Amino acid sequence: MSPESKPLPPENAGPEPQSADWEGFYRNYKKPGFIAGYEILQKLGGGVFGIVFKAKKQSINKAYAIKFLKVDDPGIQKQVLSELETVGLFAQVDHPNLVSIEDKGLVGGIPYIIMGYAGDETLKSRLQEGPMSEVEVIALFSQICKGVKALHDHSLVHFDLKPANIFLKGDVARVGDYGLSKLVSETRVSLSFGRGTPYYMAPEMLKRKGDFRSDIYSLGIILYECLCGEPPFKGENEWEVLKGHETGELHFPNSLDPHWKSLLGRMLAKEPEDRPQDLGEVLSCLPCGNSPLLGSGPVASPGPAAPPLPPSPPPLAGQQLATQDRPRRTGTVLGILFRSFLLSIVLPFRIVGFTLAAFVKHFSRLIRGTFSALGVVAVIGFWILVVLLLMQVFLVGFSIF
Ligand SMILES: Nc1ncnc2c1ncn2[C@@H]1O[C@H](COP(=O)(O)OP(=O)(O)O)[C@@H](O)[C@H]1O
Ligand SMILES: [Mg+2]
Repeated sequence: MSPESKPLPPENAGPEPQSADWEGFYRNYKKPGFIAGYEILQKLGGGVFGIVFKAKKQSINKAYAIKFLKVDDPGIQKQVLSELETVGLFAQVDHPNLVSIEDKGLVGGIPYIIMGYAGDETLKSRLQEGPMSEVEVIALFSQICKGVKALHDHSLVHFDLKPANIFLKGDVARVGDYGLSKLVSETRVSLSFGRGTPYYMAPEMLKRKGDFRSDIYSLGIILYECLCGEPPFKGENEWEVLKGHETGELHFPNSLDPHWKSLLGRMLAKEPEDRPQDLGEVLSCLPCGNSPLLGSGPVASPGPAAPPLPPSPPPLAGQQLATQDRPRRTGTVLGILFRSFLLSIVLPFRIVGFTLAAFVKHFSRLIRGTFSALGVVAVIGFWILVVLLLMQVFLVGFSIF
């Protein structure tokens, strides 16, 4: 083990955050032994939670990816350290559709995770190349669902599913970038503010209330994008996209098969309980290889959108949909009206709240400075008034005598 890198303390030791030495990091990361046993090669990129480098394990000459977690806020840093303890749980899940987690550690106060190197092609880059055929969508999407299902089967939630985190090698898809689910779920809104558009985020994540059904929602957005060429909720900024997730109606291109509309309508339900309740159910709704649905051309062109999907799409014959949902759905019109009424009251407060929070976060120093200055002015003003009053009393008294 190098003198600079060390394993994290044991589970209950309550790791204390040590300030991250990024200057030291950039000075030393290329030096042999910075991470014992690895040679750090080029930077692969960076996201909301850290920067990723390609590295070579010297003993076996094999490529790995090391993510160094970049969190400056001391409160969040402490949370990262304690959450790193659970990375071991994710590392236990061994599945062909998951990128492996190999190790974790701390170097110069910077936590890191070592992952299998998954190549440089992702679903994001694949989507940028052009439309996908239905056969390709099903082949990739079913593998993605299987990978995420393996996490869910171990009671683990990904919480950051997006095309950039799905790696492709030939016709194999592997889900990566998992292991920090609590950190992601609790800080996604605040940390991603201004750093990317939350196209794939389930509406309940705004209330920091996500669970495995939030993954099912994100997978629904990914499936929608694969089939239709773009995500369903877009906007000029984060708030517009978030508003779309919370209240926006789902529209589909006319050419999209009703089978997909039905499945997507359920995966993208605003309420987690209206979604398929596990990925086994989603997998069973995917057409199989010999389905008459399958064509080899693009699935749907993002042409004119069909009218919005009714809130409770009828299940197709032979399709395994949650039968227990049906009685509840018949009474949803009043529910939807009630929810819309509540939302119309709550939403403006929430927007004002978020704006104030962002404002307070970014301008707290300015506000503190302004209030201190106002305080000083008030104190000086007060004493000037007191002096003037005393002078007046003194002068009046003097004139009496
Ligand atoms: N296990 C991995 N194997 C290969 N490349 C990876 C791996 N993990 C992350 N990367 C790459 O590192 C870069 C930064 O990743 P990340 O910080 O997760 O940001 P994001 O997911 O937002 O793109 C991306 O280009 C990503 O493809
Ligand atoms: Mg990533």
